[in-house]
Amino acid sequence: MPQGAGTDGLHEPQFALHVEDLTVSYHTNPVLWDIDLDIPPGVLAAVVGPNGAGKSTLIKAALGLVRPVAGHVRYFGQGYAAARRRIGYVPQRSSVDWDFPTDALDVVTMGLYGKLGWFRRPGRAARARALAALADVGMQDYAARQISQLSGGQQQRVFIARALVQDADIYFLDEPLAGVDATTERTIMALLRRLRDAGKTVIVVHHDLSTVRRYFDWLVMLNVRIIAQGPVSEVYTAENLRRTYGGQVALIEDLPPAPGAEGPTAEGGQDGPR
Ligand SMILES: Nc1ncnc2c1ncn2[C@@H]1O[C@H](COP(=O)(O)OP(=O)(O)OP(=O)(O)O)[C@@H](O)[C@H]1O
Ligand SMILES: [Mg+2]
Repeated sequence: MPQGAGTDGLHEPQFALHVEDLTVSYHTNPVLWDIDLDIPPGVLAAVVGPNGAGKSTLIKAALGLVRPVAGHVRYFGQGYAAARRRIGYVPQRSSVDWDFPTDALDVVTMGLYGKLGWFRRPGRAARARALAALADVGMQDYAARQISQLSGGQQQRVFIARALVQDADIYFLDEPLAGVDATTERTIMALLRRLRDAGKTVIVVHHDLSTVRRYFDWLVMLNVRIIAQGPVSEVYTAENLRRTYGGQVALIEDLPPAPGAEGPTAEGGQDGPR
């Protein structure tokens, strides 16, 4: 029985993220159904599922950006309001208005406002931190560039720099690798691993099933409902992929052979390279 499960008391503090009975509907359509999710601290977690599975909605509901029909969310045992400054978020690129008139350094500096407070102007130290974060993502030469005049992958890196300066304890990144080149992908993954190795919890919506095992140590498989969650080594199985994606999975190259099986099952007819 959790103690002090009231709105202010700690509830499931052992988890970086604890989601309970979460249901979200747009209009009358449930897009997340009765989600129970526990993510331990210090993991690099992928959230996978087909388009429309509710991955972005799950993150938005966790961040209080969409209102659930039911359920609740705890960060390290606390509600969102109390934990807000410990949470970093890089939204899905297609959901951001890239035309707002501001340069890359400003975007990153905004990540510090939670720490500075709204009324203090960022000083020299804040600027230096923001520049260091831009350097971390290889964007130091673009500090003064308008955000709308950066390429998609560059914009993505600036937003990751913004999350970095926040010095959060838990990070949500919604498809940070979508549409970036191989070099940027390596840069971003190295940063995320560094965060994880520093004890942060990193939750990434991810589309490329061929890199799930290489990149992540924790996995959430979602399709309106939670299909499976846990360590990648236990959860990333052909059966769970089928349950998550239906029969449509084409790219499961790095899937380990099922115990006792001598290859892909006859059923399904996926004749990828082997
Ligand atoms: N603002 C909205 N109003 C109505 N329906 C919405 C809204 N946002 C999302 N949806 C619907 O909710 C479902 C889940 O959307 P969501 O964006 O969470 O999916 P996703 O798993 O992130 O997909 P993708 O892989 O394409 O990013 C979809 O069917 C989508 O059409
Ligand atoms: Mg999405």
